[in-house]
Amino acid sequence: MIRYQQGAAALIKIFLDSKSLENPISKEDLCTWLERPKNPEHGDIAFPCFRLSKPLGAPPKKICQELASELNLDESPFSGVVATGPYLNFNLGKEAATTFLREALRDRDQFGRQNSIGAGRKILLEYSSPNIAKEFHIGHFRNTVLGQSLCNLYRACGYEVIAINHLGDWGSQFGKIAYAFLNWGEESALEKNPLEYLTKLYVRFHTEAENNPDLDREARLLFKKIEANDPELKALWQRFVGISIETLKKTYARLGVHFDHYLGESFYIDKVDGVIQELRNTNLLEESEGAQVVLLEDYKMPPCIILTGDGTTLYHTRDLAAATYRKGKFQFDRCLYVVGSEQSLHFQQLFKVLELMGKEWHAGLEHVRYGLYRFKEGKFSTRKGQSILMAEVLEEARSKVAEIIANKNPNLPEKEEVAEMVALGAVIYNDLSTDRVKDVEFDWNRVLDFEGDTGPYLQYTYARASSILRKAAETGLWTESSLETLIESNEFCPRTMQLLKLLGHYSGSIQGAVRLNKPSIVANYVLELSKNFNSFYRNVKVLDESEAAETIQLRLAVVDAVRTVIRSALGLLCIRTPEAM
Ligand code: ARG
Repeated sequence: MIRYQQGAAALIKIFLDSKSLENPISKEDLCTWLERPKNPEHGDIAFPCFRLSKPLGAPPKKICQELASELNLDESPFSGVVATGPYLNFNLGKEAATTFLREALRDRDQFGRQNSIGAGRKILLEYSSPNIAKEFHIGHFRNTVLGQSLCNLYRACGYEVIAINHLGDWGSQFGKIAYAFLNWGEESALEKNPLEYLTKLYVRFHTEAENNPDLDREARLLFKKIEANDPELKALWQRFVGISIETLKKTYARLGVHFDHYLGESFYIDKVDGVIQELRNTNLLEESEGAQVVLLEDYKMPPCIILTGDGTTLYHTRDLAAATYRKGKFQFDRCLYVVGSEQSLHFQQLFKVLELMGKEWHAGLEHVRYGLYRFKEGKFSTRKGQSILMAEVLEEARSKVAEIIANKNPNLPEKEEVAEMVALGAVIYNDLSTDRVKDVEFDWNRVLDFEGDTGPYLQYTYARASSILRKAAETGLWTESSLETLIESNEFCPRTMQLLKLLGHYSGSIQGAVRLNKPSIVANYVLELSKNFNSFYRNVKVLDESEAAETIQLRLAVVDAVRTVIRSALGLLCIRTPEAM
């Protein structure tokens, strides 16, 4: 679509040049002002004329009408322009619409991806980063799929992405778990279900500590020993970490998530001294109530605590070391932290301290925040999101989907594999289609509705397209060599035209998602594409034998292209596509 936007901008530019403005407006500026009409029936590209109101000294509607009557569309890809209030709407003709069809079929999974945008730019993307020795809750799930999807999207735009898991593998909680394990632990229980068991021990520690304040002191001593490299305790800690990572990796494999590096907080322990020295050298460190802090009063923030009274490092200290290390090691252009909104202050403080330290690259750091989960009803409604385990939600989804499949399509081959794909698709789509800064509403009836705005609906649409092509394969599909003839010899109904033009918006949705770090933009796009496809399918009987063979062939080509784009878009969202369901 971009090249057509440039075409539209060029036409407006010619008009403006004839007005000899005092401050000429560039074609590039015009291009960035273009929009996608809210209602596709109005047109394919819209120009908001109020932008020209001031430079031309006229009301937008009047400018719009003048533009509509004066633009010369000969030799352009546009079949017409219409003034709708202050918006000038451009309509693409058959040639442009079919270009999207040609390109989708030629480029397949590469269609819509624009490697040039991020070429030569390096992004460090930090996501998932759970606190380990704890079970994975639904908040971690959100972080993980959001991060992986952003990783996929940036890569689709040609950025070099380094995916890092900043595991929470250090801190006083390890003293507590060590205490609990040494006093009440059972080897066999740990072997059987390590994370669940460690979580239980941690909970037990807290319950017992309520009646016995000595426990906290004991746990602190144990953590001091871990910090001091006591061989036995360090080995125990190492064991907890190892077990946790192993279990996490199984979860990641299930979700299609992959990291280039696992660099937890513990990795930075021997790197904090350098940072502390730097803070001293730049006179940023001050003593406050026994602790070493950087005061941020001038920026209306509480102090950033670097060292406690007894010299222990803190979350901020390790984050300062991590940022510095990452810059030195990876030389990123930007570093994105996918972390919940509740840590906004933490990151504002972190970025400010790095700025005060004179790190110019602080400008490339961004906190990509996200909201919480809200469970509407059912099994999980009474508990808080933080304590709802991802595995439980996925298990519930899987069994519900399996039930639906057993009812709807009992003879489906590979039922279990499909149930897993659809269950994951349902939960992931519900999450990623929500604007990340908002809370995710979780309502079982909605999430699994095969007719709703859901993952299963999209997967079902994909399976339907696949099934049409399978059926057609028996009589012969369109072939590459026939495509041009098919395009030339066929008329396109408005519904088909709209579907083809929608293919052209795919690339813009990827770019929008990357610009705002919002996979929801692609999620909404693929929903719109699927809805249009289903209405095409209902109204245009693709395999209607009373039609000319060429007409059927062309329709199959359209189905093929749409199917490819649905798969590609869902792939960016970490959602797999079953061939039948
Ligand atoms: N482990 C932390 C938590 O679960 C998130 C880490 C976020 N990343 C960071 N660089 N601080 O809350």
